[in-house]
Amino acid sequence: MKIVSIVGARPEFVQATPISRALRPHHQEILVHTGQHYDYAMSQTFFEELNIPAPDYYLGVGSGSHAKQTAEMMVRMEEVLLAERPDVVVVRGDTNSTIAGALVAAKLGMPLAHVEAGERSFDRSMPEEINRLVTDRLADMHFCVSRTAVEHLADEGILGNVHWVGDVMYDVMLSQIEIARQKSTILQTLGVEAKGYALVTVHRAANTDDPARLTQIVDALNSVDETVIFPVHPRTRKALGQIEAVFAPHVRLIEPVGYFDIITLEESARLIATDSGGVQREAYFLGVPCITLRDETEWHETVSAGWNSLVGVETETILDAWRNFRPSGERPAIFGEGDAGRKIADILTASQQSTVADMALEKGVLV
Ligand code: UD1
Ligand code: UDP
Repeated sequence: MKIVSIVGARPEFVQATPISRALRPHHQEILVHTGQHYDYAMSQTFFEELNIPAPDYYLGVGSGSHAKQTAEMMVRMEEVLLAERPDVVVVRGDTNSTIAGALVAAKLGMPLAHVEAGERSFDRSMPEEINRLVTDRLADMHFCVSRTAVEHLADEGILGNVHWVGDVMYDVMLSQIEIARQKSTILQTLGVEAKGYALVTVHRAANTDDPARLTQIVDALNSVDETVIFPVHPRTRKALGQIEAVFAPHVRLIEPVGYFDIITLEESARLIATDSGGVQREAYFLGVPCITLRDETEWHETVSAGWNSLVGVETETILDAWRNFRPSGERPAIFGEGDAGRKIADILTASQQSTVADMALEKGVLV
C-alpha cells in the first residue's frame, strides 16, 4: 500500500513518528511537509530529535492569510498527489495543512484518513474548528483520540469507519520521556529546580490576536509570585511586540524549545498554564496540574478527571486558579494505552484489501 502522510505544523511533527514506524516496515509511506511551520525551532528540531524520516516533498508554503496559505498548499499538494497516486492520504489534527490535504485528496477521489478526528470546541470563530468539521465530513476513515470524539462524530451522523485508537501523542510521550530525562539539560540551562516554576505556552489566535485578552494574560503572569518559564511561539512574539508588553523579572521568555526540552519542562513544572491542545494532554499524561487559558476546550475529559481547569483569560480568575488549583487522584486512561500508532497502522493495513478498494471504487477511482 502507498500512503501519503501530510504534516506541516508543530503538533503534526510530534505526532508523525508512531504511525510512520508502524507503517514503514510493510508499506510505502511518502511524507509531505507543507512548510506551514519553517523556523528551525518550529520544524527541523522535531525531525532530528524524534528521528522523523526526511520529507519526500517539502512544499515550502510558509505563512500567510488562511486563504492564501491553504490555497498555496492545495495547488502544490495536488501536483504531489497526482504524481504519487497513493492508496490513502493521512492527515492529522486541525491545521491549515490538514484541511488543504483533505480537500485535495477528496477532490481527487482518493481515500482519506483523519487522525485526531471528532474533536470539537463548538466554537466556529476558531479556525481549527472549521478545519476539523470539514476534514471529518470529507474523511473516509476516522481515528479518534477519545471516546467523546467518537460521540461527536455520531452526533453529526458520521458512524462508519470510526475507530477509537487513543492518542499518538501519548505513544510519543511514553517512548521519549526516558530519553528526554537523560538528554535534556534545560533545567540546568535555565537554572530552575524541579517543581520550582510554572510553565506557560500561549499561541491560540483568540488570545494572540485580541490585545485585551493578551494583556489580561500578561497582567496575570506579572502578578504571580513564582518563576514563570514561557517559551514563546513566533505568532505570540509578534503579538506581544504589538501590545508593547513589559514583563516582570520572574517571567522568563525563551525561544520555542524542542520536544525533549518541552516535555522535561512540563514534567518538572509545578503548574502548567496553556492554551495549547497538545500541552493540555501532555500535562495530563504527566500528572501535572494544568490551567487552560481558553473559554472552551476540546479536551473535556481532562477537566472532568479533575486535572485541567478551564479558566479563560480574566486576570483575577487566572490568579485564583494559579494559586488554588491542586488536583489529585486517578487519571483514567482516556487517551488509550500508548499504542495508537500501531492500531492506526493495523486498521489501515486491514482496510487495504477491502475498505480502501471499496471506497475508491465508490468514488470511481481505479486502485
Ligand atoms: C498553527 C495552527 C494551530 C496550531 C499551531 C501549532 C492553523 C490554522 N493553526 O497555528 O492550530 O495549534 O499551528 O503551533 O493551522 N511563524 C513563524 N515561524 C514559523 C511558523 C509561524 O514566524 O515557523 C509566525 C508567522 O508570523 C505566522 C504566524 O507565526 O504568520 C502564525 O503561523 P501559522 O502557521 O499561520 O499559525 P499558528 O498560529 O502557528
Ligand atoms: N511544544 C514544543 N516546544 C514548545 C512548545 C510546545 O515542542 O516550545 C510541543 C508541545 O509539547 C506539543 C506540541 O508542541 O507536543 C504542541 O504544539 P502546539 O502547542 O504548538 O499546538 P497545539 O497542540 O495547540 O495544536
